[in-house]
Parts: sequence; C-alpha cells; structure tokens
Amino acid sequence: MISPIETKRLVLRPLEPQDACDFHGLETDPAVKNFLNGASKHDVDYYKQWIAKGGSENSTILAITLRIDGRFIGRCGFTKNWHCDGPELDIVLKKDCWNSGYGQEVGEALIKLGFDEFKYDTIFGVADFKHVRSIKLCKRLGMAQRQDFALRKEGRPVVVYEIRRPSAK
Ligand SMILES: CC(C)(COP(=O)(O)OP(=O)(O)OC[C@H]1O[C@@H](n2cnc3c(N)ncnc32)[C@H](O)[C@@H]1OP(=O)(O)O)[C@@H](O)C(=O)NCCC(=O)NCCS
Repeated sequence: MISPIETKRLVLRPLEPQDACDFHGLETDPAVKNFLNGASKHDVDYYKQWIAKGGSENSTILAITLRIDGRFIGRCGFTKNWHCDGPELDIVLKKDCWNSGYGQEVGEALIKLGFDEFKYDTIFGVADFKHVRSIKLCKRLGMAQRQDFALRKEGRPVVVYEIRRPSAK
C-alpha cells in the first residue's frame, strides 16, 4: 500500500470505497476518455467492487484529491507499458480541472515516486498523436520523444516519450 503523497495543492492517495461514484463519473465521461479507450459502460457498482478488490492487477492507481477540501479530481499512477514493457505514466483529470497545472504537479510527484521508491530506470509517457495536452505535458515533465510513432493495441498511432532516472542517463 502506497502512503499518501502531498504536493503543493494535491494529495495522491490509494483509492477508497467512497471514491466509486467519482471514479465512475471520470471513467464514463466521453471527453475525458476521448484519447484513451473511450467512455466506460460500467455502472457504479462495478467500480465499488473493483476498488474493493484492490483495482487493476497491471496498474498502480491513486486518487488525485485537492489538499484544500479533499475533493476527488482524478486518478493517476503507473500502468504496464505495452510498447516498451515498462511503467507508463497514467494521469486522468476531471475535465473541469484541466488547464490548472494539476497534471504537471501529479506527473512530477509520480516521476519522483517511480525513481525514488519503485527504483524504475525509465518511465514512459504515451500520447495519442493528436492529443496536444498529453504531448505538452510529457514535454513539460522533461520527457524525450523515443520514436516517431507507435501503435496502440487498438491500432491508433501514439507518440512515446521517456525519462530516465538521473543515474541511468
Ligand atoms: C492529459 C491531462 C492530464 C493534461 O491536462 P492539462 O490541463 O493540459 O495539463 P496541466 O494540468 O499540467 O495544466 C497545464 C496548463 O495549465 C496552465 N496553468 C494554469 N494555471 C496553472 C498553474 N497554477 N500552474 C501551472 N500551470 C497552470 C498552464 O499554462 C498549461 O496551459 P498550456 O498547456 O495551455 O500551456 C488532461 O488533459 C486529462 O486528464 N485528459 C484526459 C485523460 C487523458 O487523456 N490522459 C492522458 C493519458 S496519461
């Protein structure tokens, strides 16, 4: 179990049963999931059970909450990278929380967690080639483009970024 991580404005913490409604709202929002695998069709009960079972086997998932009032504003973590067989940064914010710098704040905290605690040598960022926000975020996080394009499992082209732990450069 990962201990909560505090940043300037956020707390990243393990998912709790009371997150199920917010989590469901995030996963079923077509705007939020536009460049991911599309809006989920699961209901709230599915997410209640999913959280109770400990989430996904292939991912580390944390809730993103505001320090000021505890409000759930998204999820983040690492997922198994299909292209490079390494950890991929996963940051998903509610739409009304875009354009506030939260993505960068989360990304910086996760990169630190990945290198300092999980001892990853390389952390990847994978962005749909049309997803300008995600591409800008990878660049702001100091990630370098790894190759021109790869393909998601679903066949969509993506741009792969990576950042290496300082000692591994
Ligand atoms: C990908 C995603 C996290 C990026 O969000 P974002 O809002 O573009 O990025 P940030 O949260 O870092 O915010 C940066 C923007 O906020 C602005 N900003 C406003 N207030 C700010 C502040 N206090 N501090 C820093 N930046 C601030 C910055 O200028 C920047 O705008 P710009 O890109 O026009 O220059 C978000 O679009 C999202 O959750 N999308 C849906 C899920 C998804 O597809 N995730 C990608 C897979 S990982």
